[in-house]
Amino acid sequence: MNDPKHVATYAGHYLDNAYWLFVQCFQRYFPGLVPRDAILDLGCGPAAIPLLLARHFPHCEIHGVDGAPNMLAYGKKAVQREGLEQRVRLFHGILPENFHLGRERYEVVVSNYLLHHLADPLVLWNGIHKYCLPHAAVLIIDLLRPASKESAEFLVEKYIPDAPPLLRQDMLLSLHAAYTLDEITAQLEEANLAENLTLTKSSPFQFSAYGYLN
Ligand SMILES: C[S@@+](CC[C@H](N)C(=O)[O-])C[C@H]1O[C@@H](n2cnc3c(N)ncnc32)[C@H](O)[C@@H]1O
Repeated sequence: MNDPKHVATYAGHYLDNAYWLFVQCFQRYFPGLVPRDAILDLGCGPAAIPLLLARHFPHCEIHGVDGAPNMLAYGKKAVQREGLEQRVRLFHGILPENFHLGRERYEVVVSNYLLHHLADPLVLWNGIHKYCLPHAAVLIIDLLRPASKESAEFLVEKYIPDAPPLLRQDMLLSLHAAYTLDEITAQLEEANLAENLTLTKSSPFQFSAYGYLN
């Protein structure tokens, strides 16, 4: 994901709706929640979601961490363009390594489309325990693996027919790399998160896992 072509694809306007939907989901799942200190975005990419969250929640900081320096470089420029350097801070880090962040723990932790990148999915779920304050709000969204190669191709054709070719190819690969609802249910149980996070199929090809920790 450090390849400049990938950075341009994920930073391009084609995904604006997906980023907007992420924030809509946040508001739907956590009505009335107004973060006051800081939100952490794990695998923040070019910082599109941190920037949207910063606009929605003007009284808190948004911190993003990502393992790809070029994604972060793009994100930092976007943050500067919007004059949000004081509130949107981006850090380099590869989960599950230890890395420096602006806080040790956060009142809200979110992540969009990181899980399917992880060979060991517990890296994300353990990261929730590691970076969340008690009673933190958590929202994770990612793809669901379809039952067959044909179903994956159908989804790409139906939902992103006009997307740039690299994005279509990436979505296909990502759908194959994604987990199923049963697998994610098992992951949440193994990570002791099943009682806290509600798992739902939030679109024909995505899941949301959301809730408050104890
Ligand atoms: C599909 S992109 C999604 C980016 C962003 N969340 C978005 O919605 O635009 C996945 C991101 O996760 C990052 N990533 C993958 N594995 C990672 C890891 N182990 N630690 C940190 N970031 C990682 C990649 O560099 C990439 O920017």
